[in-house]
Amino acid sequence: MKKIFYITTPIYYPSGNPHIGHCYTTVACDAIARYKRWQGCDVMFSTGTDEHGMKIEESAKNAGKSPQEYVDEIAERFKRLWGFMNVSYDRFIRTTDDYHKEAVQKIFKAIYDKGYIYKGEYAGKYCVPDESFWTESQLVGGKCPECGRDVIDAKEEAYFMKMSPFAERIEKLLTETDYLQPRARVNEMVNNFIKPGLEDLCVSRTTFKWGIPVPFDPKHVVYVWIDALSNYITLLGYENSEHDDMRFWSADAEITHMTAKDIVRFHSIIWIAILLALDLPLPKRLYSHGWFNFEGKKMSKSLGNVVDPFVLGKRYGVDSIRYQILRDMPFGGDVDFSDELMLTRINADLANDLGNLVSRTVAMVVKYFGGTLPRDRRPDEPADSELIGLASGLSAKTDGLIEIPHLSQALAEIFAVVSRANKYIDETAPWILAKDEGNKPRLASVLYNLLETVRICSSLLAPFMPETMVKVWGQIGANAEETAYGKAGAWGTLPKDVSVKKGDIIFPRFDIEKELAELESIYNLP
Ligand code: ME8
Repeated sequence: MKKIFYITTPIYYPSGNPHIGHCYTTVACDAIARYKRWQGCDVMFSTGTDEHGMKIEESAKNAGKSPQEYVDEIAERFKRLWGFMNVSYDRFIRTTDDYHKEAVQKIFKAIYDKGYIYKGEYAGKYCVPDESFWTESQLVGGKCPECGRDVIDAKEEAYFMKMSPFAERIEKLLTETDYLQPRARVNEMVNNFIKPGLEDLCVSRTTFKWGIPVPFDPKHVVYVWIDALSNYITLLGYENSEHDDMRFWSADAEITHMTAKDIVRFHSIIWIAILLALDLPLPKRLYSHGWFNFEGKKMSKSLGNVVDPFVLGKRYGVDSIRYQILRDMPFGGDVDFSDELMLTRINADLANDLGNLVSRTVAMVVKYFGGTLPRDRRPDEPADSELIGLASGLSAKTDGLIEIPHLSQALAEIFAVVSRANKYIDETAPWILAKDEGNKPRLASVLYNLLETVRICSSLLAPFMPETMVKVWGQIGANAEETAYGKAGAWGTLPKDVSVKKGDIIFPRFDIEKELAELESIYNLP
């Protein structure tokens, strides 16, 4: 039986253009989904847009459009970006999709019928841009604790969902399982939200119209979090007949949510309460990564400090951007994004280390053997064993790191082997071996070892840089079977008399000073 694997990105607000922060989560999920498919799992990878709420209603008004026109345009932009970034999602959900709206109404009613939703009155401090009510004690200096902006006093009739019946089970999930990663976030959730007593969640609004009507009280619309979080099951077919994929939400499925730390609370407390109320299985993992900061500030649409992924992808290559953002974001921590960091990483790892390894290896096979290695070999020497050991043990390491999922470390491990292979070239000095006809069998072994190392590294890198790795395989003469998952740890997979083919430079080097100046003028930075 194939392992069932389901991975989700948050569904993004279409309240502005997608930026490099959205790219990070989506590309990270894409790399994991591709890796899992490569391992032979039955994979569902979902993303989408979260299109209801007061903020969207306002943004649409400001843009002089109806909410539907407004979200249609931005949802399209997200889809275009994912196409451009080579994101292999299986399903894109929009919360304005009819099947989702119907299912959310049924979910709301089911929780109500079980007695967990009741009508009350909400009074609190409300942050309009974040669509969040806060208690006085949660405010920071009287401002919204999430975005630091002013809050307003607000009061309205509203439905609430009881949270206390689920508190104990939520705490157990957080403290006794590996659900929330990195583990450092568990204390924050338990101490700040569960220990003080979970507050009931406001789940409807009457002050705006742009939402899904509460089925039995249509002057209310479902407040965004029940609407938004339910996407993870409605897109599989929960309470609707549009899809029939609930095997991805079964006890057998490995369900992984990925978000940044901003919405951990919703995914580790509220979502779990909703699932418990519906008697559904719980997901296996929530990975909450850090922030891309831009010049010291969290990068978000509302702060206006965006970096355009289309511009970067076109100039430097989509795979290079995919690599750089995944490599430079530490596990759970934040990173200050800068063009200089990006270009330095691309030059050092991709152009110098990997690009050079591939082009030097292929060029030497062409130069010394006319492109095809001879079958006549000398056995490997002790000097080869370190490289062979590292390369053939690599997939076991990356398999483990993908599970956590520690993508930056997985890439670091692969590039450690790439560096080792470059050092191996210096140590074995093929150009000296080539001078002596009697050393040709040894030279062939050295080049074969390099080709095998490139085969293994490029197979493991393909989920991260799918387009370029196919080009590498073309150059080193590897086919689909030789780059299959089962062969990643099998040293000696390429035929002894493998033929290579010189190709274009896979990763060009950039003149950093020149690029920085040009990017500055594109973005009009001061
Ligand atoms: O919160 N660095 O949508 P959203 C890293 N609709 N990741 C970032 C980022 C940054 N600077 N900026 C955004 C919502 N992200 C809700 C979610 S889910 C049921 C509903 C990514 O458009 C990151 O994944 O504000 C973050 O969690 C998400 O975008 C927030 O997206």
